[in-house]
Amino acid sequence: MKQQFRTLDQFIIEKQADFPCATGGLSRLLRDIGIAAKVVNREINRAGLAGVFGETGTVNIQGECQQRLDVYANEQFITALKRGGECCAIVSEEDEELIAIDPGILGNARYIVAIDPLDGSSNIDVNVGIGTIFSIYRRVSTGGMVRPEDVLQKGNQQVAAGYIIYGSSTMLVYTTGNGVNGFTLDPSLGEFCLSHPDMMIPDHGRIYSVNEGNYIRFPEGVRRYIRYCQEEDLLTGRPYSSRYIGSMVADFHRNLIKGGIFIYPATTAAPNGKLRLIYECNPMAMIVEQAGGAASDGQTRILDLEVRELHQRSAIFIGSKSMVEKALEMMEVYSDVY
Ligand code: AHG
Ligand code: MN
Ligand code: MN
Ligand code: MN
Repeated sequence: MKQQFRTLDQFIIEKQADFPCATGGLSRLLRDIGIAAKVVNREINRAGLAGVFGETGTVNIQGECQQRLDVYANEQFITALKRGGECCAIVSEEDEELIAIDPGILGNARYIVAIDPLDGSSNIDVNVGIGTIFSIYRRVSTGGMVRPEDVLQKGNQQVAAGYIIYGSSTMLVYTTGNGVNGFTLDPSLGEFCLSHPDMMIPDHGRIYSVNEGNYIRFPEGVRRYIRYCQEEDLLTGRPYSSRYIGSMVADFHRNLIKGGIFIYPATTAAPNGKLRLIYECNPMAMIVEQAGGAASDGQTRILDLEVRELHQRSAIFIGSKSMVEKALEMMEVYSDVY
């Protein structure tokens, strides 16, 4: 049956109706993000012509050379969030400090947004899938300015999480805790339209996604799991296929649709892992669990991890539940072997 045409805005408003006490603030916030995503998408699509490839020459708090599109995307999302009036603070991969927006000016702005404005920056200049990842919390403190406890909330306190993938088509995928829905940008309308209702990740897949260039630096449990994926076994469909794009959003999105596991473990070079908890691991973990999958740091459920600092890193095993469970089993068996 051909599905009913629904734009992101229509969908958000319809879903809001399911929550009588909703004030519409989260709906407006999601639409603000959708607007910024369309602006960033336009720039990405003409990047080669607009002279926005390449580095800015600056280094961010992560120690990474910032790409022009990192900075552009960061500016667009921050501007849209400030203008929208629903957000009282922003955590961005590209900003060392918290961006506090004076709630006095914005009245009752109640949401904190954590964002990776452009994920997969190393792929920008080579036209490979990149994305934006966002995570939304409700403010917990009252009174004047935002406080640390507003920002350092566990992932299980998120009210919404999502990503945009700027790929062969541009999609926005998000959850507010009631399932995962995907919207494809229709360039002729300039609207995100519902294309993937009620997304569920297959419980098992045949894809493993890890940067095997780091093999020698992996814990033994990961090395054993990689070898497990490469063995011949009819029952589990092994050997699996190895797919690694180098953009978490793209690797995650493929696994969400086809089934699979993405692993960025702690390594001897990055003992806390590489990916950031607040604006990469937590939002993706909320999405995958809402889609029936699992996300762990190797010992603990990602969404239960203590959040101590803005740019905290974490190991991550995320994807189809049975595949994550198998990888964690190996991590347990070889827990203290590097
Ligand atoms: P970002 O571009 O936002 O800094 O994130 C890059 C991340 C993630 O997208 C990807 O999965 C990972 O870095 C790739 O890291 P390696 O190149 O070390 O494999
Ligand atoms: Mn980066
Ligand atoms: Mn990223
Ligand atoms: Mn980034």
